Order: sequence, then C-alpha cells, then structure tokens
Amino acid sequence: MVRICEVTMADTTPERLLNDAFDIFRNASKTLEEHYRRLEERVELLNRELSEKNKLMERTRRLAAMGEMAAKIAHEIRNPLGSIGIFASILERELRDDEKRGELASHISSGVRTLDNLLSNMLLFARSPEPRFSQLDIREVIEDTLDMVRTRKDKSVGVNKVFEGSTVICGDESLLKQVFYNLLINAFDAVGEDGSIEVRTTLLTNGRTYMTVVIRDSGVGIPAEDLDRIFDPFFTTKDRGTGLGLAIVESIVKAHGGEISVESEQGRGTTFTIRLPVEDREGTTHE
Ligand SMILES: Nc1ncnc2c1ncn2[C@@H]1O[C@H](COP(=O)(O)OP(=O)(O)O)[C@@H](O)[C@H]1O
Ligand SMILES: [Mg+2]
Repeated sequence: MVRICEVTMADTTPERLLNDAFDIFRNASKTLEEHYRRLEERVELLNRELSEKNKLMERTRRLAAMGEMAAKIAHEIRNPLGSIGIFASILERELRDDEKRGELASHISSGVRTLDNLLSNMLLFARSPEPRFSQLDIREVIEDTLDMVRTRKDKSVGVNKVFEGSTVICGDESLLKQVFYNLLINAFDAVGEDGSIEVRTTLLTNGRTYMTVVIRDSGVGIPAEDLDRIFDPFFTTKDRGTGLGLAIVESIVKAHGGEISVESEQGRGTTFTIRLPVEDREGTTHE
C-alpha cells in the first residue's frame, strides 16, 4: 500500500505530467506532419495527372478541329481539282506531238493525281471509320496488301512472314488492308535495298483472345523526340508525305477495339505492334 502510494505520488508530479503532455503533443504533431506530407504528395500527384489529362483533352480538341477543317477544305478543292484534271488530260492529248509542252501538261496531271491522293486521305481521316465486321483471314489480307505495296515500291527488299496458329479474326477487310498498306509503305520507305521487313502474327490469350500483328523493319528508325508525334495528322518528315498514314491507321485500329504501339531506335529500325480482338461480334457476317 505504501509502495503504491509512493509510485502514484511520483507519477503525478507537475513536471512529469507536463512532460507526458509534451510527449503526447510531440507524437501527435509528428503524426499530423506525416499525414500532411502524404496529403501534399497526393495533391501534387493529382495536379500532375490533371495537367496531363488537360493536355490530352486540348490535343483531342485540336485534332478534332483539324479534322473538321481538313474535311471542309478537301470538299471545296475536290470539284475544281477534278476539272483541272480533265483539262490537263485533254491538253496532254492535244500536245501529243509537242514533246516539250506535252511534258509540261503531264506534270499538271501528275500534280493533280498527288493532290487527289492527299484529298482522299484527308477525307478518310476526317470520317471516323465505321468497320463492317466479318470473319476474315488476316494472312490473306496481309499477303494481298504486300502485293499492292510491291507494285508501288520497286525495291527488292526481303519480307519475312511468320503466321503463328490461326489467322482468322473478325474485322473490316478493306479498312484492315488500309492499315497494313500504310504501315508497309512506311516500312519500305524506311529501309534501303539491303534492308529487311518482318510481319508476324501471333494469338495471345489474356482473358480475351487477341491477335498481335508485328511489323518490324530494319530501316532508319524514328528519333525519340518524334515518337510522340508520328500518329498526329499532318506530321511528316518526308518531302512528299501527307502525314496522314499513321493517323488513319490509329483510328481504324481503335475502331476495331484494338491498340497500336511503336518502338524504334534511330539507325536500327522500327517495330509497330497492333493488337486486335479476335472474338465474334454482334452483326458479324460469316462468309
Ligand atoms: N517504319 C518507319 N520508319 C521510320 N519512320 C517512320 C516509319 N513509319 C512512320 N515513320 C515516321 O512517321 C511519319 C508519319 O508517317 P505517316 O503518318 O505514314 O505519314 P507520311 O508517310 O506521309 O510521312 C513519317 O514521315 C516518318 O517520319
Ligand atoms: Mg506514310
């Protein structure tokens, strides 16, 4: 009893109580400081995310405005351009016997064809693709497209094709041809005569079944600072490029519920990877 009384007495001295209170206060303020620091970090993270999202939204808005403008211009130019094309071909015919002036007229015709090609691409880009799904063999789509590309590019570049497993998917044949055409034309542009291109399809099951199509070239590669911009409409590093090829590719792949990514090293080559869902869709026609 005496001991208890001693202890109680010792524990309740004013200094001890004050010390205990300070300890409690110090601990509480340390915990508060820690909470505050974590909150600050979280706010900083959220701010960063918000500014990224704002940037993305701004870019989407800019691209949509660009698309609309491109479509308007394309429509306005198409008709007069058609007339110029017709007059140029009449002129060409009439100047058949005048080599020098005939050549000038053929320049007009070829210029009109280039512009017409640009307009078609602009309209294709401005119109959101609406795929008509049917079962198709991606192998046939790729082989056909490769034949088309070969007739346009007279380079004797070796193309290695590897098709792993089933190559049947649901998709829109003409839109997918456009995708592979644009990617293969770019690959041919990027490689020299001794370059090589590989096209590989693989099935991937990760909950859903996807087909990946990898198009790899041993060409000039893409500088790191350009990688973010290559899918932007009108971004081109080519003298006669339209900069619409990859923008169209991206919108078609997205309309198929797929994804596209790119890896590249300057001087070593570039790899595009497309991931397309394989499964049946509603409204799919089985031919
Ligand atoms: N396989 C590739 N190798 C190197 N650069 C590429 C490749 N594919 C695309 N690029 C780069 O991306 C740009 C945009 O391509 P694209 O949209 O097809 O337009 P374009 O071919 O008319 O320039 C090209 O100008 C080029 O700089
Ligand atoms: Mg291109």
